Amino acid sequence: MPNSAEVKVNGQSYELPVIEGTEQETAIDISAFRAQTGVITIDPGFKNTGSTKSAITFLDGETGILRYRGYPIEQLADQSSFLEVSYLLIYGDLPSPTELAEFQGRITQHTLVHEDFKKILDGFPSTAHPMGVLSSLVTALTAFYPQSLDPNRSWEEVNLSIIRIIAKMPTFAAWSYKNQMGHPVMYPNNNLDYCSNFLHLMFGLPSTEYEVNPIVAKALDKLLILHADHEQNCSASTVRIVGSSQASLYASLSAGINALWGPLHGGANQAVIEMLENIKVDGGDTKKWMAKAKDKNDPFRLMGFGHRVYKNFDPRARIIKKAADEVLEALGVVDPVLDIAKGLEQEALEDQYFVDRKLYPNVDFYSGIIYRALGIPTEMFTVMFALGRLPGWIAQWKEMRENKEPIGRPRQIYTGENERDYKPLSAR
Ligand code: ACO
Repeated sequence: MPNSAEVKVNGQSYELPVIEGTEQETAIDISAFRAQTGVITIDPGFKNTGSTKSAITFLDGETGILRYRGYPIEQLADQSSFLEVSYLLIYGDLPSPTELAEFQGRITQHTLVHEDFKKILDGFPSTAHPMGVLSSLVTALTAFYPQSLDPNRSWEEVNLSIIRIIAKMPTFAAWSYKNQMGHPVMYPNNNLDYCSNFLHLMFGLPSTEYEVNPIVAKALDKLLILHADHEQNCSASTVRIVGSSQASLYASLSAGINALWGPLHGGANQAVIEMLENIKVDGGDTKKWMAKAKDKNDPFRLMGFGHRVYKNFDPRARIIKKAADEVLEALGVVDPVLDIAKGLEQEALEDQYFVDRKLYPNVDFYSGIIYRALGIPTEMFTVMFALGRLPGWIAQWKEMRENKEPIGRPRQIYTGENERDYKPLSAR
């Protein structure tokens, strides 16, 4: 591997250091480039720009590998639990049995939210999208825990903020749904595990005993593991950049939730189901929709297909597709939309347009089908993603703080007007 790269600017050569990661990924370090040459680099959408060195998640989009802290996603999805994966991502290694029990115990202790959160929730009309409600409730935590505003406080205090948000997120997520339904909110049940408690908060009613189906709780746990981190994506980068200004953990996480909301990121799971429903209502002609996706004059894209990083099968999509089959069978759910999804996938995988552009199904192509089978309404899909991604965002924020990263502040190439004199209104 070369340890430097040569770049010529206006005829003069400059040597730039090259750095290598533990998986032999290489990067040219341009951090001093402008100071040396007066020139910046430009890369809209950061398609080829590394923003940080990170030890959390490794992914190789060319070969379809995803590992959290070195552990393959396939093994974690199969054998671990969401809270264990959360511990792994945030603290860097798998917990011992005692460490895991203590972590789970602390999270259970902090599930209750302040009663005044109900007043905040009451202020939202039932038309409010649950993602907006969720990000607002997470920001509101700063008001109830003002000591969390300063990320420079002791590690114990920062860690308490971390525990609190993991503990309260299922409550906020479920309450954002209850608000939409006009139903009374439920209180957490600390006798239940993390996912079962969430299901109780979502589907429980004060009038009837809600019995958690273990198949549903297990499937949900797996989905959360699959969504737990994905290195420097749009929302993780947002969390890091907001946190780099020394904004609080909760403010940074709330920004991450908003970044996730868009249909090109976490909002894709909602968009996929809406797309599949539209295709069904339209008569199920997948060829027609494939043609639309390929037509450059048509804004339609095949939602759930393509990825900025994966140019091979998204390994999470493989696991989710298998899980979708298993969950639907175990619950006895027949969903015609699953057949449409499988048909579309088959056609896309054989279509030259998709083959040439290396467009494969991503994590969200099948996740919505499982959520639906679990009884989770479409507008809640992205909230489910946020629930899963929470430990990843926390780990990214914590690493950014520990690395003492400088404030994120990209540069630009200005293309506007040159200097001109102000004209008073009367002269315009
Ligand atoms: N349907 C049709 N064409 C597509 C699709 C798609 N889903 N995705 C990419 N393309 C085409 C583009 O039109 C472009 O074609 P061109 O080279 O002829 O202009 C080419 O493939 C490359 O696409 P870009 O948009 O340049 O790729 P980028 O890396 O910027 O975008 C993204 C990645 C946003 C995920 C894109 O593939 C997309 O919009 N997919 C659909 C939305 C989606 O599923 N998002 C979820 C992503 S996973 C996640 O966030 C959890």
